[in-house]
Amino acid sequence: MKVLLLGSGAREHALAWKLAQSPLLTTLHCAPGNAGMAERWPCQPVDLVSPPAVVALVKRLAVELVVVGPEAPLVAGVADALKAAGIAVFGPVQAAAMVEGSKIFSKELMQTAGLPTAKWEAFDDLAKAEMRARSWQGPVVVKADGLAAGKGVVVADNGVQGAEAVRSLGQLGAGKRLILEERLTGPELSLMVLTDGEHYALLAPSQDHKRVGDGDTGPNTGGMGAYAPAPLLSRQALERVAEQVIAPMLRELKKQGSPFVGALYAGLMLTPTGPQVIEFNCRLGDPETQVLMMQLDEDLLGLMASCTRGELVTRTLKSHPGVSVAVVLAAQGYPEAPVSGAVITGLEQPTPSDVERFHAGTARKNERWVVNGGRVLSVCAHADSLTEAQALAYREVARISFAGGHFRRDIGAGGGTAPRPLK
Ligand code: AMP
Ligand code: GLY
Repeated sequence: MKVLLLGSGAREHALAWKLAQSPLLTTLHCAPGNAGMAERWPCQPVDLVSPPAVVALVKRLAVELVVVGPEAPLVAGVADALKAAGIAVFGPVQAAAMVEGSKIFSKELMQTAGLPTAKWEAFDDLAKAEMRARSWQGPVVVKADGLAAGKGVVVADNGVQGAEAVRSLGQLGAGKRLILEERLTGPELSLMVLTDGEHYALLAPSQDHKRVGDGDTGPNTGGMGAYAPAPLLSRQALERVAEQVIAPMLRELKKQGSPFVGALYAGLMLTPTGPQVIEFNCRLGDPETQVLMMQLDEDLLGLMASCTRGELVTRTLKSHPGVSVAVVLAAQGYPEAPVSGAVITGLEQPTPSDVERFHAGTARKNERWVVNGGRVLSVCAHADSLTEAQALAYREVARISFAGGHFRRDIGAGGGTAPRPLK
């Protein structure tokens, strides 16, 4: 099968690496890809959020299946255009991608489907939202309605800070619509499935580390590392959560006439009174995908193709025994003002077995590797235990260096938590 993979992050590099292991694959093209991916697969430039440009590229390459990595093309309607052109696509149509594209739509859908989620109120007027935030009793979370590249959520300790957050999100220009919702507490868990719109295949539960600094300090980022499987819920508990959270959402989307085909990501918070849904994403997580691909003991391409044909069987996917860890190496100044250009050393050496380096913000310049983005590399390791996987990943991290580069030293901390009973 001739496949085109859309996207340019370490998530897509990991997906390409896994797709390339499939006996079903004949050729893999990437667009736009990145410098790391270009070492192994042909990469084509493309405007990812232009449906006609993507369709034209697909026709030129004569690919049979398109796999969409990031959310922006899906929210822009790339899957709709591909389907209209008769091309199989792993990724939801725009109306279904709105589970991520609009937080208000997502919350309304969760409510209709009867999912456990934080109490919320929607506003389409900033002044009214600011007033309501000021009178909020206790901590409040302020969320811009639309896609905001990870900058659309502020968790405020009280109403005064909440009102400030409303003002600053307003200035961000992420649209006027926003949500105020109650703050929940507890560990977070990323639950991802591959789905054909009705049946779903559960990937291992994972946890990412969103803050830039050790011990969850400093500003939020796209994600500084991840590990899987996160031992926060037993397999039975996880399957039950999926029945309570994934299945009703899929049913509701199908009922509305836009079945969700692709990867559905539920961000959960395990609160003292049980799991609650924090958000849905219409794609796989980054950096969670990097560890999930190291863990997955199945044919990814076969699964994705089954999803597009409506032939999936609901089940938990097989994982390799052991644990995978991904440590993100970030550029100087990330996340506020990442600096590109620093020369990266250490990438010339081959990786030991059970270690993969997935590229994101790298480039080739004068035959050297240089920094070209905020999150530069995901260094991933798989081993029998979390401690061994951490040791292996950090040993590899130590071999790579560039001026101003930084990473968290506590990826996987919290991974020792015993599975909890499900309320
Ligand atoms: P989101 O973009 O909705 O995933 O929000 C980003 C992050 O904000 C989440 O991963 C949580 O850490 C935090 N967050 C979002 N909603 C809530 C909530 N209701 N209570 C506590 N934290 C939240
Ligand atoms: N790692 C969080 C996300 O991909 O949204």
